[in-house]
Amino acid sequence: MQQDLERILFHETTILSRLDQLAAQITQDYRDRELTVIAVLTGSLMFMADLLRRIPLPLKLDFLAVASYHGKTQTTGEVIFKQVALPDVKDRHILILDDILDSGHTLAAIREKLETANPRSIRVCVLLNKKKQRARHVDADYVGFDIEDEFVVGYGLDFMESYRNLPYIGVLRKDLIAQAGG
Ligand code: IMP
Ligand code: MG
Repeated sequence: MQQDLERILFHETTILSRLDQLAAQITQDYRDRELTVIAVLTGSLMFMADLLRRIPLPLKLDFLAVASYHGKTQTTGEVIFKQVALPDVKDRHILILDDILDSGHTLAAIREKLETANPRSIRVCVLLNKKKQRARHVDADYVGFDIEDEFVVGYGLDFMESYRNLPYIGVLRKDLIAQAGG
């Protein structure tokens, strides 16, 4: 799989030491609050597992599954919620975890949806934040790394459902994206 990458952006050790810092900050901020983490499947899976093991607070964990990409590198803007029932968020302090903030469509839609269920507070934590003009304005309260507007894979992030199991994050070769019609 590594030969499909243009270059590696973040090695596993770099990711994990950044997660130490993020987790310390979250632990400090939520020390007096009952935290409910809502992870957005599937891309945030590795991030969630490594981050939450570094947060020594009592917390609840739930998931949301959404689709917006339809296999290519560009979002359609339409966000489809794949489950029937929303997690129980009423009166809870919610921390949404996602892999990457790109156009903002996904997190804006999730935030709006959860707000209708009256949580006490909502914050957003993303591993990666693409530095770009977004289609929808979204503020991430916690960001692992800021990156350029390039298509990245690994550590949970996919291209057409592949590369999620790479332990590091890298930029996918543009010829492979073009070949797949992305
Ligand atoms: P947004 O709705 O455009 O902000 O996109 C959010 C979702 O698109 C993420 O949760 C990812 O699943 C996917 N995505 C956006 N950029 C990338 C990327 O560079 N690599 C892999 N997936 C991405
Ligand atoms: Mg994806």
